Amino acid sequence: MDHYAVFGNPIKQSKSPFIHTLFAQQTQEKMVYSAIEPAIDDFDAALKAFFLEQGKGCNITAPFKEQAYQYAQQLTKRAELAGAVNTLKLTDDGILIGDNTDGAGLVLDLKNNHVTLKGARILLIGAGGAARGVCGPLLAEQPKELIIANRTFSKAQTLTTIFTKLGNISAGEFSELSGEFDLIINSTSASLQGEVPLISAKLIRPETTIYDMMYSAQVTPFNAWAKEQGARLTIDGLGMLVGQAAESFAIWRGVKPGAKQVLNELRHNLAT
Ligand code: ATR
Repeated sequence: MDHYAVFGNPIKQSKSPFIHTLFAQQTQEKMVYSAIEPAIDDFDAALKAFFLEQGKGCNITAPFKEQAYQYAQQLTKRAELAGAVNTLKLTDDGILIGDNTDGAGLVLDLKNNHVTLKGARILLIGAGGAARGVCGPLLAEQPKELIIANRTFSKAQTLTTIFTKLGNISAGEFSELSGEFDLIINSTSASLQGEVPLISAKLIRPETTIYDMMYSAQVTPFNAWAKEQGARLTIDGLGMLVGQAAESFAIWRGVKPGAKQVLNELRHNLAT
């Protein structure tokens, strides 16, 4: 049977085996999906062993996405721009292709939540790996403007340089952001320390959609703060997680699973 897996360290917390097992049931694809935790310096060897056996494809999560980018024999355009690979697929010709479905997963979840991207003015907070992964797919939706704001301004400028050919992207200082945003996305890891990036509360209008790429059983700190400022629609990153998985599954199996049922089950499991 075709074997798929997620590689990460640590991996115990990963929801990918649950998600892909449900996708396989839903689409009646015959496959198994497991979780693999290589030692930090053993990632390449673990990948090699996996593909020498029955491995057909895998997901890669922290801290191995950049290493997977190096390991892939061919890269898709979006993986090249993201500088990281979260999906590997072994073709019938034995070529290992590296892709990145994180940004597509975000866009899919925004669309499932009826958020309009075309013509929108978007603020993306953070300029780390998570932000870089979503810039290309967001720009492909033709927003009016995508502004990257980061605590360390130079990193926002670096992202702008990478993506400038794809659309109207610019870098902004936290303290200088102004005007009305249709969508504000938090890609920072600030929530991990229970913190919220220091942007002005004035940027949050009732109509501004707030998207936190983090998720948790409770409302995330960023979304809680945005709600306090009056934001009506706040979304966390659980749907993005399911979205990126659905995109990976489609790359491997040629059939796109539905996100809704899996997302409902995950949300239910988080709450219990
Ligand atoms: P990831 O792969 O999750 O993006 P990363 O590459 O380490 O992780 O990037 C973390 C991002 O969160 C960065 O944009 C970081 O800002 P700096 O570049 O200034 O470090 C941002 N970040 C982390 N903690 C933050 C905080 N407390 N407030 C604001 N931004 C924060």
